[in-house]
Amino acid sequence: MPAQRSAVRGQLVWFRDDPFLTDPGHAFVHVDDGLLICEDGLVTAAGDYGELRERIPAGVEPVHYPEHVITPGFIDTHVHYVQTGIIAAFGSQLIDWLNHYTFVEEQRFADAAYAREAAAVFCDELLRNGTTTALTFCAVYPQSVDALFEETTRRNMRMAAGKVLMDRNAPDALLDTARTGYEDSKALLERWHGTGRNLYAITPRFAPTSTPEQLEAAGTLRREHPGALLHTHVSENTGEISWVRSLFPDRRGYLDVYDHYGLLGPGAVLAHGVHLTASERARCAETDTAIAHCPTSNLFLGSGLFHVHDAKDPRRPLRVGLGTDIGAGTSFSLLATMNEAYKVAELSNYPLDSVKAFYLATLGGAQAMGIDDRVGSLEPGHEADFVVLDPRATPLLARRTARTESIEELLFVLAVMGDDRTVRATYVAGERAHDRDTAAV
Ligand code: GUN
Ligand code: ZN
Repeated sequence: MPAQRSAVRGQLVWFRDDPFLTDPGHAFVHVDDGLLICEDGLVTAAGDYGELRERIPAGVEPVHYPEHVITPGFIDTHVHYVQTGIIAAFGSQLIDWLNHYTFVEEQRFADAAYAREAAAVFCDELLRNGTTTALTFCAVYPQSVDALFEETTRRNMRMAAGKVLMDRNAPDALLDTARTGYEDSKALLERWHGTGRNLYAITPRFAPTSTPEQLEAAGTLRREHPGALLHTHVSENTGEISWVRSLFPDRRGYLDVYDHYGLLGPGAVLAHGVHLTASERARCAETDTAIAHCPTSNLFLGSGLFHVHDAKDPRRPLRVGLGTDIGAGTSFSLLATMNEAYKVAELSNYPLDSVKAFYLATLGGAQAMGIDDRVGSLEPGHEADFVVLDPRATPLLARRTARTESIEELLFVLAVMGDDRTVRATYVAGERAHDRDTAAV
């Protein structure tokens, strides 16, 4: 079979390191007139067009995106594909919202045909928004996991997902048991982890919907499969935290529940962490447990303000990625998510600059998931997942970006004003998987 080869030309932006912790001049790479060459799904060269043009493979014509910004594909470190249908559900904070909307919608995923249709819509939305990798919850039903991974396999996307584990405090139709949850998860993990570009995430919903026996079983599965991810929620809402204390009186706090059952560690991504204490943050740092910061969701559900500067404190920095948390989140766009992250940070008087915001949406997310050797960067050897952003996507954006004076300012304007219209194209494994101007709407 002939090798897959492609090349694109435009402004390249990516990260070599974490700009919260190292000199941004070292961490941040910007190539004004750049060329990216891809072969067999991998980046083989990234740098200055003039220097690299001779290496363009014979027969390959680079796609030129003048003035556009090409970054690694966005990484959504926390999303629920099964909640795509209930975005913008009015009037409730977390627990009421789960009972009124979420637990109703998730029951529909018992129907494999419904799940397949939702999985296709979900992947379309990710790509329309420049997101090439996500860590997503499925429903309790194994068929909801199969539906998603069948779709991502067809599209060759790097996707992490898992069957939600829930054996109490939810409608009967949504409950598994400690034993069936373990067995179903194990079978799905063995079927999908490492199949195509798929990764399995062991997914207890959150401490209140799992018995100690189920959390114990999740810990066993994690020990048996240390390469799989672990995905759950923590300390999102103050009422939720009190509930966890009453359900687990022997534990020191919410995080300690997960710690006790062996669920923390590299590859564990906990969504929200809005109300983590200083000692809980220290424990996350010590164990290499990551947090998915989901600002649109935290604002929508009135959960609270996540302090990204505390999380990235250089004395004990956490791995942090950005999450949309659809359906509590309000946009699939990681640009919109950066915009809200900026505003949330401003509320605690911390100006989250554009370099840090784009890092969180790309390499930061990959580091949170422990897959930064594969995605989140344009460095040669990485998988060629990238997004092409159009600074002239709308009349107002064109007017505003015309007067930007630095790449940092341009990225800031794209983050604050950008959305799906800003995504000119999305590439998966070196191939164009979304083209804004030819896509059917
Ligand atoms: N905590 C437990 N389940 C959920 C969920 O589906 N969404 C959010 N935002 N928080 C949760
Ligand atoms: Zn969530």
